[in-house]
Amino acid sequence: MHNNKITTDIALALAELQAGNLVAFPTETVYGLGALATNITAIEKVFATKGRPQNHPLIVHIGSKDLLARFARDIPNAAYKLADTFWPGPLTLILRKQEHVLPIITGNQDTVAIRIPNHPITLKMLQQLGNGIVGPSANKYGRVSPTSAKHVAEDLHDNEILILDGGAAIVGIESTILDLTSTPTIRRHGHISVVQIENVLQTHIQVDLTFNPNASVSGTHLAHYAPNTTVVLVPPAELQDYIQQLNHHQFSVLSWQEPSINNVYWQQAFDNPEDYARELYANLRHHDSLQNSLIIVEMPPLDIAWAAIVDRLKRASSKSK
Ligand code: TXA
Ligand code: MG
Repeated sequence: MHNNKITTDIALALAELQAGNLVAFPTETVYGLGALATNITAIEKVFATKGRPQNHPLIVHIGSKDLLARFARDIPNAAYKLADTFWPGPLTLILRKQEHVLPIITGNQDTVAIRIPNHPITLKMLQQLGNGIVGPSANKYGRVSPTSAKHVAEDLHDNEILILDGGAAIVGIESTILDLTSTPTIRRHGHISVVQIENVLQTHIQVDLTFNPNASVSGTHLAHYAPNTTVVLVPPAELQDYIQQLNHHQFSVLSWQEPSINNVYWQQAFDNPEDYARELYANLRHHDSLQNSLIIVEMPPLDIAWAAIVDRLKRASSKSK
């Protein structure tokens, strides 16, 4: 039973946002659960709807670079260089915040996370709005992020939220997060790689995925992006042996290897990280819907091209149940 209305009507979405209501919106990464960045009551609803702890800061989505200075101050040149290269796109920048930016957005920190998402409908909406929209992924806290309007409707069916339908997300995993408030540091891997950023900035950048300003920041929190079914990540060389000793379990498999057992949903994984990432969350949701006791996932190569995917899989498999 879904109470959500799914639409492609931008005017309707804008009216909802202006009225202080939430709108789930498409991006190239995952769907966001949006509220007007200046409406504290609406932002409180985002946390309540997701079941997300209030100290987890939110990303501000904007529709044009002109709005960057409205939300951030002391903006380094590096930010403009990266914005010129990657925006609209799956790169979030952490910058010093302007005084007026609500503490509920920033988790009471002096910094704010900002990006211009690359999706035609959402860009149009943001440009017409001329304001920021805060939006975490539009799923219940800790669950698999949604990459379609249908996923959002499944997750948030208890809430009467308008869902702006922009089709399936083309990137499929959350944006890369780069902290520019000191030495440039990656805080979350994503589609835009360390190397791409280094090429633009012409400098070495650090990677610190443990950064934790508020004790438990979402995305550094381990039990994240997790299906209900237990996910087990198994190295390629151990996969066949692992499966052989699972005879009393019901399970499904996502792997590059040929099936070695009958009567099991054994999905062939994509060879390239772009396709793998785009389908990852939909695949995890499908495996989850089979209601087996385990989802066996073959560990991808330990190569930088797979870093964002390995990160999401580790989180999906780290749930202590
Ligand atoms: O691709 C994405 O980034 C998607 C789409 C909807 O834009 N959004 C998303 O939001 O993944 P969420 O809330 O699931 O993740 C936001 C991440 C969290 O890891 C949060 O800790 C980090 O951004 N973040 C936000 N503001 C921050 C800040 N001021 N300092 C450090 N981290 C921050
Ligand atoms: Mg999320």
